[in-house]
Amino acid sequence: MTSTTATTRSIHLAARPAGFPELTDFRMVEHPMPSAEAGRLLIRNLFMSIDPGSLMRIGAYPGIPMPPFAIGDVLSGDAIGEVIESGDPTVPEGALVLHRLGWREHALAEAQTVRVVDPDAYPSPSGYLGFGLVAYVGLTLVAGLTAGDTVFVSSAAGATGSMAGQIARLLGAGRVVGSVGSPRKAAYIVDELGYDTAVDYHDEPFVDRLRAAAPDGVDVYFDNVGGSQLRAAIEVMNAGGRIALCGALARQRAGGEPDAGPGDLLSVIGKRLTLRGFTTLDHLDLAPEFGRKLREWTAAGDIVRTETVIDGLENAPRALLDAVRGRYTGKVVVRLAR
Ligand SMILES: NC(=O)c1ccc[n+]([C@@H]2O[C@H](COP(=O)([O-])OP(=O)(O)OC[C@H]3O[C@@H](n4cnc5c(N)ncnc54)[C@H](OP(=O)(O)O)[C@@H]3O)[C@@H](O)[C@H]2O)c1
Repeated sequence: MTSTTATTRSIHLAARPAGFPELTDFRMVEHPMPSAEAGRLLIRNLFMSIDPGSLMRIGAYPGIPMPPFAIGDVLSGDAIGEVIESGDPTVPEGALVLHRLGWREHALAEAQTVRVVDPDAYPSPSGYLGFGLVAYVGLTLVAGLTAGDTVFVSSAAGATGSMAGQIARLLGAGRVVGSVGSPRKAAYIVDELGYDTAVDYHDEPFVDRLRAAAPDGVDVYFDNVGGSQLRAAIEVMNAGGRIALCGALARQRAGGEPDAGPGDLLSVIGKRLTLRGFTTLDHLDLAPEFGRKLREWTAAGDIVRTETVIDGLENAPRALLDAVRGRYTGKVVVRLAR
């Protein structure tokens, strides 16, 4: 007689990479399906988010706002799934829940750590994994965008940048400039997202390209990248300009090597610039306000949400590395079940 035991799979950190990770730094583990005891939920994950920020936890960069992953740990990140077994009366089986236990096909979560969401809010549950809130927080609360401002967004075709350019326009920006890494992405941000113009950060000297793209100067810089683009932006900023420091893609692509940073800060003083780092986790109270606006903009056809879907947990590590290498456009998600 044979007996079958249900199994499920998760992705673990196999080794701490010395630089940019290799696929061998990840390991897929198959293990018995857990069950939900009191207070817990067994969730069948439908989609997980691919977030370049997880490279910082994989590489244990110093100074990051989240703890690094330990070697052997299952990775984690945002995911959306369906509760298939509930040990908590407040979350019924069948509920769609947003949580932070991605990188696994099934998650066992404490009921109070998940958010039950409306299954009809988006055409696909993956809509909950979008990065619009990051863009909204950075532009409003952090950078204090005002009508007529010239806004510069780096990694403008990425998950956050593709939303930041559109949201800046909807909030009244006068001119919106984006930087990207290829002519294809330059055409995409202008033609599909409504950026006024695109600059390719490979074109040197970048500072001259940026100045030509923003001839009246930049009032708000939404920085996803750091490094040489931040240096150039500081040169082109207008007096009183505000820089929202969101991400560190230059460092993430360089395998954690610290970049040269902004360099001489005299012009920051001279121009009375504000550079402010932020993490959205501190501003989740803005989520309902942003959700309302996003629904209005979506209903009016004013905002485009671009998503790249990769199938299968086994392809998640490659999706992460390829996302940072610039292979994809918009938000990247991995579909874990249909
Ligand atoms: N502060 C927060 O609360 C918060 C929240 C979410 C994310 N983040 C951070 O914000 C940044 C953006 O996140 P995301 O998920 O929206 O990523 P993303 O922009 O979708 O990242 C992928 C893109 O990064 C670009 N890129 C990679 N290396 C680059 C470099 N050296 N210079 C310029 N562009 C480069 C590539 O575009 P090209 O093809 O154009 O090169 C690639 O397509 C990340 O650093 C992330 O960790 C911060």
